[in-house]
Amino acid sequence: MNNSPEPISWVANPRARSIAFSEAVDSVFPADIFSQTQRFHRQIPGYRPSPLRNLANLAAMLGVGGIWVKDESMRLDLNSFKVLGGSFAIYEVIKSKLGIEDEHLTFEELVAEAARAGLGDLTFATATDGNHGRGVAWGAAKLNCKAVIYVHKDTSLPRIRAIESYGAEVRVIDGNYDVAVHQASVDAEANGWQVISDTSWEGYTDIPKWVMQGYTTLLSETQEQLAGTGIVKPTHVLVQAGVGSLAAATSGFYSSRFGADRPTIVVVEPTEAQCLLESARIGDGEPHNVDGDLQTIMAGLACGEPNPIAWDVLWDTVDAFAACPDYVAAKGMRVYATPLAGDPFIVSGESGAVTLGALMYLAQFPQYRALKDSIGLGPDSQILLINSEGNTDPDYFRQVAWEGGNSVPPEYRWSDTLEGSI
Ligand SMILES: Cc1ncc(COP(=O)(O)O)c(C=O)c1O
Repeated sequence: MNNSPEPISWVANPRARSIAFSEAVDSVFPADIFSQTQRFHRQIPGYRPSPLRNLANLAAMLGVGGIWVKDESMRLDLNSFKVLGGSFAIYEVIKSKLGIEDEHLTFEELVAEAARAGLGDLTFATATDGNHGRGVAWGAAKLNCKAVIYVHKDTSLPRIRAIESYGAEVRVIDGNYDVAVHQASVDAEANGWQVISDTSWEGYTDIPKWVMQGYTTLLSETQEQLAGTGIVKPTHVLVQAGVGSLAAATSGFYSSRFGADRPTIVVVEPTEAQCLLESARIGDGEPHNVDGDLQTIMAGLACGEPNPIAWDVLWDTVDAFAACPDYVAAKGMRVYATPLAGDPFIVSGESGAVTLGALMYLAQFPQYRALKDSIGLGPDSQILLINSEGNTDPDYFRQVAWEGGNSVPPEYRWSDTLEGSI
């Protein structure tokens, strides 16, 4: 008798390969945006590209050509990729308030300009699962501005303390992430604050677009790092999603750069918050919400409402949507933390690790043959994963990595009687 949720559920999106042109990609990810965001991030004091790690031995074990991990666990000392989006959005907001949209100021020049123009009174607000709020609080502190950050009721204390460490006020909302998003925008309207959201709604699209554009710096870096190995681009990218902005940045970047020759993209969500998978399953081209408590250890992915402007990009460009239960993310965390001899050790938090867990099941369990065939995974595949966070919740990280939390159900443990490799 088999009672545990299966490791992967999925739907293919054949439509993504059937359209010749995506207006959504064209409008959010025009070809010149990638150098602009990279130029901005490069001049932030302390910036350096995050590492691209090579899990060569795990790739050999799973029977694929390569597994490359873009490791965001130490990005600007903030432990996640999210600061790339928040910082670029704040930069663009300040430029537009100063009426200098077309100028390329450094962050420090912008701080000086903002102070001269009396923008020090500005307050930024956002909802967060932790990581985006931390990035916004960091950006506001750099500009000597205030920040009010809304978190949902299940946000852990270490995540709250990390945001407060940048001088931001944290408000805990009695509801899930989507309720926190709503409350942040209501209070901002009443108080004249500037919302820096990583998701969009009607009439509010510029800032989430800048957030998504900001994320592409990690992909520009990846391409430069891969070029050093002789690989032109990955053949496959598995990317995790909450509201879908990171995933859209990924598929939008590769579509804009390579058109129909882009890598095959698979989006991975938590089973408890699979709003993108549901939207693809319904298949009418519209984003659809899932509700409920969104209870998952993947705090960064616990979102029931897709970002509409991200969804438009995903619908046009993503080859398959998948969802995994928590034990798959926990397995990914442990595999990263206890690498095969010769592979690098990687600190990966709950939301960062789910794509590695999904890849292990995909490669090792025969029931995913159809998915493997559908996305063309094989011995020549060069797979890119994004470790989107380090141990942003250190207590929980240890609970999983040290204490064996969220263990794999017996029927889904790997043994060499299984198919073994691709
Ligand atoms: C660590 C981590 N990974 C992935 C995501 C997913 O990003 P998005 O909400 O843009 O889909 C988040 C979002 O907060 C996150 O914190």
